[in-house]
Amino acid sequence: MIAEVSSHTPWSADSWQSRPALQQPRYDDPLELASVVAQLAQLPPLVTSYEVVQLREQLAEAEAGRRFVLQGGDCAETFADCQGPMISSKLKILLQMSLVLVQGSKKPVTRIARIAGQYAKPRSEDTETRDGITLPTYRGDIINRPGFTLEDRRPDPQLLLRGYERAALTLNFLRSLVKGGFADLHHPEYWDLSFASHSAMESEYHRMTAGIGESVRFMENILGIRASEIERVDLFTSHEGLHLHYEQAQTRRVPRREGWFNLSTHLPWIGLRTAQLEGAHVEFFRGIENPVGVKIGHSTSPETLLALIDKLNPSSRPGKLVFIHRFGAGRIAEYLPKQIRALKNAGRSAVWICDPMHGNTFLTSDGIKTRNFDEILSELEQAFDIHLAEDSCLGGVHVEVTGDNVTECTGGARGLTEADLKLAYRSEVDPRLNYEQALEMAMLLARKMQRGT
Ligand code: PEP
Ligand code: CO
Repeated sequence: MIAEVSSHTPWSADSWQSRPALQQPRYDDPLELASVVAQLAQLPPLVTSYEVVQLREQLAEAEAGRRFVLQGGDCAETFADCQGPMISSKLKILLQMSLVLVQGSKKPVTRIARIAGQYAKPRSEDTETRDGITLPTYRGDIINRPGFTLEDRRPDPQLLLRGYERAALTLNFLRSLVKGGFADLHHPEYWDLSFASHSAMESEYHRMTAGIGESVRFMENILGIRASEIERVDLFTSHEGLHLHYEQAQTRRVPRREGWFNLSTHLPWIGLRTAQLEGAHVEFFRGIENPVGVKIGHSTSPETLLALIDKLNPSSRPGKLVFIHRFGAGRIAEYLPKQIRALKNAGRSAVWICDPMHGNTFLTSDGIKTRNFDEILSELEQAFDIHLAEDSCLGGVHVEVTGDNVTECTGGARGLTEADLKLAYRSEVDPRLNYEQALEMAMLLARKMQRGT
């Protein structure tokens, strides 16, 4: 069971258990938890090591500036939303955004969905009080339920199995859609979402997709190249690797490859609240072969950043470590340059991805959690400029989006106001860009990348 991972301290899939593990639920029946984890460990993997290695190779290209990454999806998936149309609209918006980013960046784009496992959420408080009643907080559908009763809020180990099953059902449908030609670049018209025709961005989007269609036909007809590679785009999955029993249960050895793979997803990441150097999450993540993400913010010092690299990528493998930075539009200019320089001065490298969502969350006067389109865009544009000025390279963008027509973030071409938020606010946790806002964001970033400033 013990594996020797690059540093000299022995690692095993459960060595995290000897470290302080933040943000874990407290189950009242440890035997039931152990039984569920044992069942999970017997169930087949959700992804393969082959795909994981392929993603690491693509991330190595992004690290070298030859590829762009689009990572996006819900803040938290819910079991109730595991439905065909919702899954296909999530795929559609990612495909559409990626197409626009291909045009803007003139690079291949890797799509990584926050899907098929994004069920566990870190929370600022352990408990929630309403009308004098205090209960455990809702921590995501894989842990407990959002309803405000003792029964709903009790962490239930069986939900780990229900989450694994939902993840498998989601992946099964996604893989069939991608394989069946839904994601064929010859036919971007398949991805139109029903209310797209109201969007202010519609005609520009159609000009872009027509442009891609023409390029594909040019390659095929004039140059005689069959664009078979682009008939099927790749789609990778990711989620916050928060619930360490769930992650451990799906971490395995595979035939003919060295090391341990977490086969619950291609790219697990460590959230900002659980990235302590001596904590359980960093301990677990340092032993797996997957590329790993770490959320970093203004509180992550340059020294911590370098220490994270030493732990998570001691042998400097390209594409292994992804820093997902999330400062907020008002802070990025102060903090990101220092972090980029720290890596450069130490001769280290990582994939840099900008998450312009989590540093820009605020509460309205009515107490609704929201984000403003202009601030999200501003952080993203600043990220692009700062990397350029520092002779570094923004490797991608990480966004919370939905293919549905929700009203959770303000602004955008349609000018959503705080009063509009009540119309269709569905997220149990963080506010997402809706379909139009997401596409607009991709287009504005694409324009900027084309201009190169
Ligand atoms: C998230 O990505 O939903 C999240 C909780 O982010 P962070 O760890 O950056 O706060
Ligand atoms: Co979130």
